[in-house]
Order: sequence, then structure tokens, then C-alpha cells
Amino acid sequence: MTLMSQDLAARREPGDEQEPVVRVSGLVKAFRRADGSIARAVDDVSLEVRPGEFLVLLGPSGCGKTTLLRIIAGLERADAGSVTLRGEEVFAAQRGVDLPPERRRLSMIFQSYALWPHMTAFDNIAYPLRNARPKPGRADVDRRVRAALEMVGTPELGRQYPNQMSGGQQQRIALARAIVGGDDLVLFDEPLSNVDAKVREQLRLELLSLQRELGFAAVYVTHDQTEAMELAHRIAVMGHGRVRQLADPATIYRRPVSRYVANFVGTSNELTGTVVRHEERTTVLRTVVGEVAGARADLAVGAEAVAVFRPERTRLVAAGGAEENAWPSEVTAVLFLGAHTETVAKAGEQSFRLLGDHDAAEGTRVTVTVRAEDVLILPAEG
Ligand SMILES: Nc1ncnc2c1ncn2[C@@H]1O[C@H](COP(=O)(O)OP(=O)(O)O)[C@@H](O)[C@H]1O
Ligand SMILES: [Mg+2]
Repeated sequence: MTLMSQDLAARREPGDEQEPVVRVSGLVKAFRRADGSIARAVDDVSLEVRPGEFLVLLGPSGCGKTTLLRIIAGLERADAGSVTLRGEEVFAAQRGVDLPPERRRLSMIFQSYALWPHMTAFDNIAYPLRNARPKPGRADVDRRVRAALEMVGTPELGRQYPNQMSGGQQQRIALARAIVGGDDLVLFDEPLSNVDAKVREQLRLELLSLQRELGFAAVYVTHDQTEAMELAHRIAVMGHGRVRQLADPATIYRRPVSRYVANFVGTSNELTGTVVRHEERTTVLRTVVGEVAGARADLAVGAEAVAVFRPERTRLVAAGGAEENAWPSEVTAVLFLGAHTETVAKAGEQSFRLLGDHDAAEGTRVTVTVRAEDVLILPAEG
């Protein structure tokens, strides 16, 4: 079956109503380390990817992203759990179901695209077709490779070798190779991590528009939060083999469920303390700089907690200019960063970062403030 001409070419938004392309459930994978101890690389992961959705697995090195991707692809066998692709169970630890990778109708794109250097773009794209069983006829291969080249917008590149192509062109050829068989699922393992920053930005934008246009579902592994925010419909933030939060980028940024997620995505100001009381809409902590009011949180009075707020929500006011969360401070640094300025202010040992034009020179006495609704109160641990 080929999806290319009809389904893939149609613009689609990821739909809730359709059968997920990927459903993984209760996946566990442990490795034995050299010292004999056991590492749970993937620790009870369940998630779904919808048709046309761009899902990013984001987390630090070693948190299990690649292992999870390889389990979905069938390159790694999980100890427990199941993988269902388009409604068909392709792996189930319990029942001994384990479809080989070539029967899972997906492609994987690795670091720097892993194109064959000794093959032309045409032959690179044709490779999966020529190795398919049953093997399509020559005219069919020819037609489908040309269609794939056309779809990624580089019909003229067929005879070029990878070293004769720009990074963007190589990315297009890798994508063409991934979708030539009609697969509606592409797995990416940090494809841009070897590319320098400027080119990476450009390739990201290109990948974004190609994915949205062609409409395949993507599972994309990265440790780069900017990349994740830019590309994803939804982000799964991972830590120690677990999904710590799965949501759209804005929710991950504005409503992180834990300190771990907040720290992994963007910078934050943090004040640790103890919950002293709840009011109608706020929860109040006692901290080194006095009381801090945040959006009401479901935490017991007496619990250790942390108030987390973003630098762009943090402001300077005249003394007496704020009723709550007013911390007399001194500006200790003003960092001109081009598009914006970062101001650092300190109240004793506690420092605050502020983004935006604050017009306060180093050494100025100021009052730092933030609205309670812009402060998240999170458990101290996790
Ligand atoms: N084949 C393996 N043998 C032993 N340990 C492994 C193997 N593959 C991965 N691991 C371990 O599993 C954990 C997760 O690895 P990985 O999935 O590669 O993380 P990531 O891609 O997020 O950097 C790491 O602690 C890693 O050392
Ligand atoms: Mg990895």
C-alpha cells in the first residue's frame, strides 16, 4: 500500500478521533551494567502518537530516549509491555509477539541522516524499495523514487552524491528515503545533533514544514529544548526512563508538573520553602526572602515546596509598588543580549533573573515582584 500520493500529500492536523499510529503500553527495558547492577533504561512507559502528529521525546543524555525509539522500531526487545502500530500489535512481551523491524512499516533517521556516501540520491531513496519483499519492479521503483524526490521538493537531485549536497538537501533525501515506501511513521534519533547551530536552525524549519505538509507521524528524539519546542505538537519530557510530563509545548513551559520539567525547559527563578497556608486562590510559602504567594497548589501545610516563576514574568517595581511578592533587592548585573536584556537582582543570597527592558543600572536598589498567578508552587522533590 502506498500512502504517498493520496494521504501523505494532504495537509492534515493530528486528529484525536483516529486510531493512533503508535501506542506503547507499560514498556520496561533493563540493561545490566558493566559492574553487574541493573539500569532501567525504560521504566514503565505508555504513550500514543496520533496520525500526522510530531511527538518529541525530550530529556538528558542517558534517560532512555534511544532505547524507547529502538523498541518501537523493533531493534530492541522490551522486557515487558506492548507496542501497537496502527491498531496492530507488533510487540507483546507476555504473548511473545515480536514483528521484525522490516514488517513494522516505519523508517528511522539517525544522526546526520546516515545516507550511503557511495550512492546517488536516487539510489539512496531506492534502497528500501529494492530491499523490500516482494521487490517492486524496476519501473515501479523508478516512478516511486521520482515521486518521493518531487514531494520533498528536490526533483533535480537524483544523480547527486551526498557529499555534493548541502545539509538541507541531505535532509530532504533522507526524508524521501524514509517515506518512499509509503510509511506514515518516521522515527528520528537526534538527526541534527552533529550540525552547527546556524544550519541546525534552518534545517529545523525545513523539517517542520515538510512534516506538516507531508503529514507523516514523527517520533523525534532530542536533548535540545529549543528543538523540541519548535518542532513538537506534543513533548514527552523524560527522566530516568520515565515520561515525566506529556503535553503541548506551551503547557510544558507554562505548567510544568515538577521542578524537573521546569528546569529542563527554559530558565526559572526558584524559591524553596515551606507551605504555611492556603488562601482562596493562592498557596503561600515561607522562604528566605519572606512569604511567597503562588497559584493555589494541592500541597499539605508544612510540606517542603518550591516556588517557580519565569524571568519574563518577573518585574521591577518602585518600593511599595506591589502588595504581595515584593522583595527589596539590588541589581547586580545587566546583560545586553541583543534582542533582549537580562537583569540579575539579588535579595541577600537569593538571586532573581528578569527578562525584558527594566531600565535599572547595576547597583540600583529595586523591588522585585511577580504576580501570584505567575508563580507555580511545586513539590520540593521530583
Ligand atoms: N546495549 C546496552 N547495554 C547496556 N546499557 C545500555 C545499552 N543501551 C543503553 N544502555 C543504558 O540505558 C540507558 C539509556 O540509554 P539511551 O536509551 O541510549 O539514552 P538516551 O538516548 O536518552 O541518551 C543509559 O544508562 C545507557 O547507558
Ligand atoms: Mg540517544
